Amino acid sequence: MEPLALYIHWPFCLAKCPYCDFNSHVRDRLPQARFRSALRQELAWEAERLGRRPLTSIFFGGGTPSLMEPETVAVLIADAGRLFDIVPDAEITLEANPTSVEAARFAAFRRAGVNRVSIGVQSLDPLALRFLGREHSAAQAVASLETARAVFPRLSFDLIYARPGQTLSDWRAELRQALTLAADHLSLYQLTIEPGTRFEAMHRRGDIVLPDEDLGAALYEATAEEAARFGLAAYEVSNYARSGGESRHNLAYWRYGDYAGIGPGAHGRLTLPAEARLVATRRHRAPEPWAERVERDGHGSVEELRLEPIERAREMLLMGLRLNEGIDPRRFVARTGMPLENALDAAVLHHAIDEDLLAWRAGCLVATQAGRLRLDALLAAVVR
Ligand SMILES: C[S@@+](CC[C@H](N)C(=O)[O-])C[C@H]1O[C@@H](n2cnc3c(N)ncnc32)[C@H](O)[C@@H]1O
Ligand code: SF4
Repeated sequence: MEPLALYIHWPFCLAKCPYCDFNSHVRDRLPQARFRSALRQELAWEAERLGRRPLTSIFFGGGTPSLMEPETVAVLIADAGRLFDIVPDAEITLEANPTSVEAARFAAFRRAGVNRVSIGVQSLDPLALRFLGREHSAAQAVASLETARAVFPRLSFDLIYARPGQTLSDWRAELRQALTLAADHLSLYQLTIEPGTRFEAMHRRGDIVLPDEDLGAALYEATAEEAARFGLAAYEVSNYARSGGESRHNLAYWRYGDYAGIGPGAHGRLTLPAEARLVATRRHRAPEPWAERVERDGHGSVEELRLEPIERAREMLLMGLRLNEGIDPRRFVARTGMPLENALDAAVLHHAIDEDLLAWRAGCLVATQAGRLRLDALLAAVVR
């Protein structure tokens, strides 16, 4: 049976960052008790229909899950352990913001069973942190990384680069400093302008100008180069790890494995025993209405779509080509029900290989560094 990865969404933050379109909301008082019981209830409902299966990872994402009461995290991990066959070395990640209040709770999250944190540092430059609307200073970020290193066996942190006005040498210097603080994993994202965010309005007015395509590509190449110098390889478009430090949970998404999504707005891809095919699940997005539904029906699911082979093929290509290891044709047919060559336009594929955008490596289809830079356009052309 396909192993399972479990995602749990915590939809609250202290403030809304101007670039962020994640399902995150600010409340005067966090409804801790209500969300604890709603998350537990929805997890039990999902487990009921999934049956016992090996659980390889749990990821508390948000929002800002480091605002959860450690007791809630502990009880959800314990529930998951009762409902599934949690593997002995399961990866249990919690996303955290680097404020001092949250760092003070790291030990309690560790005791709850969390063995990996992913900290949203975003930048080590004070002006950039202000521009990004962050609630923490660079010094607090460094302090929280130090605390996290002492408490958790594994640690990742996020940075946002390709910011307005950022030069290649600015970024190299900032990244080098970050790499001296890195443990086994880093997520390095280029700033994107997302619909409905404050940054979108500023971008429209011309108050935010992003680096052009050439500078973006140069920044991306410099990122891989600097990370490699510190022993972190780009194993996915925006993710860098030492060998063995890759995020097992995120690998489950990119390898198109089964994952359950619990909490408001969470998505899942599940092979349900009753359906014998892959189903896309989606929960109600708004936090309190989601909780009401769970209290009424036992779950907040708003959509369950049985995915046709061509839809699964499209999704698996979109995910798998983000990975350095690419897509294994045998796994492709097993997960989508469609041979890889049937999903691709042969002429466009040949052309993309000639242009050094796609390649066959060790029997797997991979996007080259140049190909990964324009993955969306590439996929639109190559998928039938
Ligand atoms: C769910 S958020 C992070 C968790 C945590 N709430 C925090 O902000 O520290 C995941 C990550 O996505 C990245 N991100 C969000 N919006 C982005 C954008 N518009 N451009 C680039 N990266 C973005 C940030 O690095 C962020 O840490
Ligand atoms: S970046 Fe993180 S802290 Fe900021 S609004 Fe998004 S989820 Fe919340």
